[in-house]
Amino acid sequence: MAEEDIVVIEEKTYQQKTQDKLNKHPLDPLSIEEINQTVEIIKAQANLGKELLFETIVLREPAKTEMLNYKPNSKISREAFAVALNYKEEKVYELIVSLDQNKLLKNEYIPDVQPAFIFGDLNMNFIEWENTLKNDPDFIAALAKRGVATPELVMIDPWPISNFGNPSEQGKRLAIGRCWLRREEGDNGYARPIEGLSLILDLNKNKIIEIQDFGIVPIPPEDGNYAARYQDSFRSDIKPIEITQPEGPSFTITGNHIKWQKWQLRIGFTPREGLVLHNISYEDKGELRPIIYRAALSEMVVPYGDPTNDHYKKQVFDSGEVGIGKCANSLELGCDCLGEIHYFDAALFDITGKATLQKNVICMHEEDYGILWKHTDHRINETETRRSRRLVISFIATVGNYEYGFFWYFYQDGSIDYEVKLTGIVNSSAVPPNTQPKNGTLVAPQVVAHNHQHYFNVRLDMMVDGLENSIYEVDTVRDPLSTENPHGNAFSIKKTLLPEEENFPRKIDPFAARYWTIANHSKKNYMGESVSYKIAPGENLLPFHHDDAVIMKRAAFMTGHMWATAYHQDELFAAGNYPNQHPGGDGLPKWMSANRNLQDKDVVVWYTFGHNHIPRLEDWPVMPVAYTGFSIKPSGFFDRNPALDVPPSASHCSCDEGQCSC
Ligand code: CU
Repeated sequence: MAEEDIVVIEEKTYQQKTQDKLNKHPLDPLSIEEINQTVEIIKAQANLGKELLFETIVLREPAKTEMLNYKPNSKISREAFAVALNYKEEKVYELIVSLDQNKLLKNEYIPDVQPAFIFGDLNMNFIEWENTLKNDPDFIAALAKRGVATPELVMIDPWPISNFGNPSEQGKRLAIGRCWLRREEGDNGYARPIEGLSLILDLNKNKIIEIQDFGIVPIPPEDGNYAARYQDSFRSDIKPIEITQPEGPSFTITGNHIKWQKWQLRIGFTPREGLVLHNISYEDKGELRPIIYRAALSEMVVPYGDPTNDHYKKQVFDSGEVGIGKCANSLELGCDCLGEIHYFDAALFDITGKATLQKNVICMHEEDYGILWKHTDHRINETETRRSRRLVISFIATVGNYEYGFFWYFYQDGSIDYEVKLTGIVNSSAVPPNTQPKNGTLVAPQVVAHNHQHYFNVRLDMMVDGLENSIYEVDTVRDPLSTENPHGNAFSIKKTLLPEEENFPRKIDPFAARYWTIANHSKKNYMGESVSYKIAPGENLLPFHHDDAVIMKRAAFMTGHMWATAYHQDELFAAGNYPNQHPGGDGLPKWMSANRNLQDKDVVVWYTFGHNHIPRLEDWPVMPVAYTGFSIKPSGFFDRNPALDVPPSASHCSCDEGQCSC
C-alpha cells in the first residue's frame, strides 16, 4: 500500500498552503472550506427551499479500486455527500456535490425515512429549542401538578421514539422528551427524574404535540452531585505521576497519515461514526502489508429492560439516530489523555450547514503497557525482557446522560484492540417511596436505574495482504477417545470455512474458545499456511429481549456477533442508513439476503459486542468506567514474533547474582 503525504507546518507560507491543497489526500475528511462550499452548492443548485437543515455533510470517499491504484499527485475527484431536511415540507434529500467542479451531481428525495436527530430551526440551537418547549403552557401546568414551579430548572432530554407501529406517528419526525429537575442551576439534574411525564415532540414543528402523563410519582428528595465543588473533601495521599518523553513521541504525522514504528494508518472522522481509520498496515521485512482498508464504529444501540410507562421505548441508536461524532468532546491535556499527545481537530457543522471547528477531538498518544515478552534462561542466568508500548487513538462522546470513549490500541506485535469505555450518568427514573423495582436498581432513595445493555458494531473492511480474503470459524474441540487418543487428553482445532453470507451471523462460544480468522489463500506464511488475522472476542452476550420484540428487528445486528458481507461501498451502517423511527429489517439482514459469495473475495466483517449493565450503587451518581471490546490479532500473518526487533529498554539498574541496585 503506497503512502504519501504532506508535512504539517505550523507557519505556512502561501506557497506551502497551495502545496497543501495540491497534495490533499483523497481520504482526508472535508475541511471547513469544503463543508461551506458543499452547502453553498446545494443551496444554489438544488432548489430545496429555504428551510433546509443538514443532518450529514461528509466526504464521499473515492471508490476503493481507485484508491488502491492511487499514487501521489494522482488526480482523484473530490466529492461531498450530504443529507438535508426541509423541515417545513418534511422531506429528506440525499445530495452529492463535486467540489472540483462546484457542481451538484445528485439530488434525490428519499421517501419514508427520518434523518438522525436535528433540533431547532434556522434561528435556533439546542438550548434555545429546549427553552421554547419549557414555555409551553400545558407543560408548565403538568409540572405544576407535580409541585414543580421552576420550569427553568427542568432538563428535557430528547429520546428517539423508536417504532412500535403507531399509525399516528407515521411520516412525522418525532422524539420523546424525558424530564429531570435541577435543585439549583448547575447541580446534577439526573438525581431528580420527573417520572411519568413524557412529551411527544414534533421536531419539524418544534413543539410539544402531546403530553403523556402516566401518573404522578414524587420527585426523589436527595442530591446526587459529583462535581468537585460539591465535594466536602478529597483524599490527600495521591502523589503526582508524570509521563515524560524527553525526545518526544515515536510517531510521525504527515497530514492525517500516521506512522508509528511499523504501523501506518490514516485518520478520518465523520459526524455519524466518529473516528474512522483507513489503510491500516504493518511494515514487515521492508514491505508495507495491508490489514484493514477501513475501520469504524458502524452502529450502536442501548436497549432498556423495563416495561413500565413508556420506558419500553428506550432503545437508542447513538450512532445512527444521534451521531456519535457530533457528540464528540474537545479533549483536555492532562485529564482525558496523559503524556505527549497529538490532537486532531474535526470539521463539523451546525444544523444550518455552517462549518464549525471542534478542537482537540481525537487524541493520539503512546502508553507503556507492561511486558511485551520475557524469558529468563536460568541455566545461564540470562534474562531478556522487552517492554510493550501501544499507540492509542481515541475520542470521547457525550450523549445526554452518558459518556462513551472509543479507543483503538495498536501494539508492537501486530495486535489491535478496540475498546469502548462507558461512563457518565446512568439513565435515571423514579419510583414511589418504599418501592422496589423489578427491572432496575435503586441507586438512591426513589431513584431507579433500569437494567440495560450496550451493543456496538464495528465494521472492518478487511484487506489481509490483499483484497481476496476468506473467513473461517475456529473452535477448539475435544478429540474422541480412540486408539489415537487412548488417554482422553487430546484436543484440536476445528476450522470451518464460511463461504457465503447465509453462513452468518455467527455467535461466540467461549467453551469452544471460538474465534474467526480472515485469511488470504494466495499468501502463505513461513510454514506454508495462508496468512490470516483473527477476530478474538472479549466480553460479549446476547439480548434478553424476546425474539419478536421490536428492537430485535430494528437492531438485528445485536442478535449475532460475527457478520460478514461482500464489499459494497454504500453498505456502511449495520442497521441501515436511517435507523431513526425505522421499523427494522434494513442494513445487514437486508444486504445478506443476497447471499453473496465470500470465498477469496473482498469481504467486510462486522463484529458486534455487548455490555450488560445491571446498575450498581457504585454507578451513582457518576459511573466508574466500564470497559468492553475485542481484539484483532495476527494469526500466522507473520512468520514469527514480529516484535523480536524491539530493543531492550535502557536499564537504570544493574543486577548481579539476583541482587539489583538502581
Ligand atoms: Cu450502561
